[in-house]
Amino acid sequence: MTEITRDVVVIGAGAAGLTAANQLKKAGLSVAVLEARDRVGGRLWTDTIEGAMLEIGGQWVSPDQDALKETIAELGLETFDRYRDGDSVYIGPDGIAHRYTGEMFPVSAETEKTIAEVTARLDAMVAEIDPDRPWAHPQAAQWDTVSWDAWLREQTDDDEAIRNLAFPTGSAMLTKPTHSFSLLQSLLMAASAGSYTNLVDADFILDKRVVGGLQQVPLLLAERLGDDVFLGQPVRTLEYSEGEGVVAVADGVTVRARHAILALAPVLYNRISFVPPLPRLQHQMHQHISMGFVIKVHAVYETPFWREKGLSGTAFSPYELSHEAYDNTNHGDERGTLVGFVSDRTADDLFRLSAEERKERILESLSHYYGPEAKDPVVYYESDWGSEEWTRGAYAASFDLGGLHRYGADLRTPVGPIHFACSDMAGAGYQHVDGAIRMGRLAAQQILDEVHT
Ligand code: FDA
Repeated sequence: MTEITRDVVVIGAGAAGLTAANQLKKAGLSVAVLEARDRVGGRLWTDTIEGAMLEIGGQWVSPDQDALKETIAELGLETFDRYRDGDSVYIGPDGIAHRYTGEMFPVSAETEKTIAEVTARLDAMVAEIDPDRPWAHPQAAQWDTVSWDAWLREQTDDDEAIRNLAFPTGSAMLTKPTHSFSLLQSLLMAASAGSYTNLVDADFILDKRVVGGLQQVPLLLAERLGDDVFLGQPVRTLEYSEGEGVVAVADGVTVRARHAILALAPVLYNRISFVPPLPRLQHQMHQHISMGFVIKVHAVYETPFWREKGLSGTAFSPYELSHEAYDNTNHGDERGTLVGFVSDRTADDLFRLSAEERKERILESLSHYYGPEAKDPVVYYESDWGSEEWTRGAYAASFDLGGLHRYGADLRTPVGPIHFACSDMAGAGYQHVDGAIRMGRLAAQQILDEVHT
């Protein structure tokens, strides 16, 4: 067992932890980053599968994500636009693929009117929410104790409108059934992207990608830390005391430090033995946070055949197994890649099937949007973050019904020398890489403020 001493031990080499470690190092503090996996990046993972480069985890960058954009620019990385020329596809209750252009998908005039009215109501509510303090809104308790599903059903009885309004924060973002999280949680998700309208706009929220893959962000951040990043080192025990600092015990390294940053998903805190145990509030609070679940499906074809049909690749339907899908072709690649998503209970159901049957069902769903050619990819891969021991779901974690106004304000509060940083506790950039970077910066700043007072 190697024993080392540093000013700060950072637990987790995702975007949050590596950002914090770099900021602290730049300010002259010594750091050690302990990472459970044998790679850095956490939920950012760019890999080559059967010759195809795939973004197994996070990949898109939107125009409001200043912290991520600054980091990408600072690291000298280039971005490219998601392909979006041509018609989008919407499948409604009739099961027919309808082509459309512009923002509004083809529904009846009445449904369109209802969607516009409820969207305006949501935008007005979101405008009143500070994404960094949603619990501070005067109606926070009321909005946090009604489910997203129940609130939508109070607005209208138009089922198609409800499904289309529910899915941007439900299947597409929090990736949980809409009865299981609150209206306030949904408003936070929208506020973190600026508005509900931004969140539903694929051209905004899924705007750009990084040439060569988004995992380069953590890889380059880790490179700057050199030997201070320790891979394959899950932290098992964290001893701490107000005056003495911390001792982080991983499988092969023990780090003594004045401060710790826990830069992992909050659902994994209970994998660490804290000595003494964390306070009552943290014990309670962490039980009210859980991961969403989505399968990210990658299908690579010899050519982007949908483009020849005048399709942009953007497709969605609240009635389909794969509720949304996009052109995800790599920069400069001759082959075409589609990415589709299967969320929450539908994902649970699919994992009860054999791998072969699951693939067949998913490709069948993609063929409803793009035609029969979608059934024959040359490479097929499912990102299954639910089976990853050091993540346990996708995309991120959120509070259950009522948890956000009850505990949200305490989630980032340090416990003695232990600080917390993760995308899953961000305001702006919540559940995104941008939020992870913001939280990494915040935790580093908290420590620098303490050191300098
Ligand atoms: P993250 O979970 O990445 O890092 C935590 C690290 O801690 C991990 O490396 C883990 O191994 C480590 N760890 C855990 N326990 C440990 C222990 N006991 N000891 C040591 N290490 C430990 N975002 C976005 O902006 N655009 C997008 O397009 C997408 N799309 C997307 C798709 C998919 C499939 C996923 C899974 C996620 C996304 N996201 C995304 C979300 C984004 O990837 C995510 O919010 C951030 O990468 C999270 O970064 P963090 O550093 O906060 O946690």
